[in-house]
Amino acid sequence: MAAPTSQRTEDWWRDAVIYQVYPRSFADGDGDGTGDLAGVRARLPYLAELGVDAVWFTPWYVSPLVDGGYDVADYRTIDPAFGTLGEAEKLIAEAREMGIRTIVDIVPNHVSDQHAWFRAALEAGPGSAERERFHFRPGRGADGELPPNDWPSQFSGRTWTRVPDGEWYLHLFTPEQPDLNWAHPEVRREHEEILRFWFERGVAGVRIDSAALLAKDPALADFVEGVDPHPYIDQDELHDIYRSWRAVADEYGGVFVGEVWLPDAERFARYLRPDELHTAFNFNFLSCPWDAGRLRRTIDDTLAEHAPVGAPATWVLCNHDVTRTVTRYGREDTGFDFATKAFGTPSDPALGLRRARAAALLTLALPGSVYVYQGEELGLPEADVPRASIQDPMHFRSGGTDPGRDGCRVPLPWSADAPYCGFGSETEPWLPQPEGWARYAADRQAADPGSMLSLYREALRLRRTAEGFGDGPLDWLPAPDVVLAFRRPGGLVCVVNLGAGPAELPAHRSLLLASGPLDGDGRLPADTAVWLRG
Ligand code: GLC
Repeated sequence: MAAPTSQRTEDWWRDAVIYQVYPRSFADGDGDGTGDLAGVRARLPYLAELGVDAVWFTPWYVSPLVDGGYDVADYRTIDPAFGTLGEAEKLIAEAREMGIRTIVDIVPNHVSDQHAWFRAALEAGPGSAERERFHFRPGRGADGELPPNDWPSQFSGRTWTRVPDGEWYLHLFTPEQPDLNWAHPEVRREHEEILRFWFERGVAGVRIDSAALLAKDPALADFVEGVDPHPYIDQDELHDIYRSWRAVADEYGGVFVGEVWLPDAERFARYLRPDELHTAFNFNFLSCPWDAGRLRRTIDDTLAEHAPVGAPATWVLCNHDVTRTVTRYGREDTGFDFATKAFGTPSDPALGLRRARAAALLTLALPGSVYVYQGEELGLPEADVPRASIQDPMHFRSGGTDPGRDGCRVPLPWSADAPYCGFGSETEPWLPQPEGWARYAADRQAADPGSMLSLYREALRLRRTAEGFGDGPLDWLPAPDVVLAFRRPGGLVCVVNLGAGPAELPAHRSLLLASGPLDGDGRLPADTAVWLRG
């Protein structure tokens, strides 16, 4: 057996496969309709069998859950709906024993309006020290009836809300998520303490939510289209913040992955300098349509932008904020764009699944680390959530035009024949599972060698044990424009056919894995990928 990838060394994160758990929807251990830590602990053997190196948990802290937990009221306690801190500690230790590291999600840009600091700020009133931890301002207009500036919210609508004493406070997301003032030393100190708190509990890494939004133009000037720098995205002050975070992480051997939505490659790479974040999500790849030329360009740009800073790339097709891959790739417009997501956009599930299978092999063969969002390994499509059941604030703030993100957050199907597909609930889960969900159940797929789950298990097994995966060079091979073909170390070759007709395979010694059957002439059909040993 060849040397496994670097999962057991301190560089494990350079080529790890990281599985994203959205705790509310992963597995329900106490039957109340909401996923929880007991559910995750019971399913750790499934994650070990799948073969992932780490699990990233979206926020599990005390929260009113206005934005799915990204509105944190207390960063040092687990929400009672999910369990207790003691259970989280057990979960971290049990996972580690199975070779799975834990990554927690820290939300530094904003807190919940129920957080002690914000409640104190409301109570203390204008001019108080408590208000300085946030962005409170008088309004504009004769009676201060207009918001202090015109910044648009990340979730449509206003970024300012007025409180009864007349002041306004800033929130880039919902009014229940007031933004912290990162120019305030206590805000910085508190977050470094929070990092220490979780590293001391054995977590291996931290995902940083909205990592490019923390620092604000001190003048809070109006937003002028096309004028740089943007008043709240990618401010230079952020790099100083992340340098001090890095020093904390280094004390514990912890690693960071930043949620950095920045299309500018050079600006993006600045966050990945050796004394800042270890990695950041590659949203350009996630947003790329199913098109060979555009994917190749994105892959090349990604590798080129990471190389000078020595950081590994990350590859991600899906997460809790975006349309599930199977549905997106089954649409006419396969690119991702928040703004074009609409109710009832048609999608061909069979086509989408074929492409998602091919995309999985493509992604897992690229140099760097890979993220798998829960249910991606089951080939789940985006679920249609009835309007009356929608919970996502993005939907409500769009005036009901955007379906929001609930369709990718529906509770997982574990067992085809159990109530609620074995999610574990004794009552209707917090989001309803659509009809036909049982067909995706993990138990059914585990028994089917042709299933998406079987493909993922085999791909991850090969990635762990065979030569050529993870960190290292990538060389493109000659191929038609609609085909991606590249070589990795040790003669590993990945070929993906994005054209309409079959494609010839390069000469090879053996076929390691295919996302679908070859045709009768040994050619690679449309929307199919293979791993070969050349
Ligand atoms: C990030 C999260 C998203 C959340 C937002 C506000 O983009 O991934 O789910 O709504 O930040 O915290």
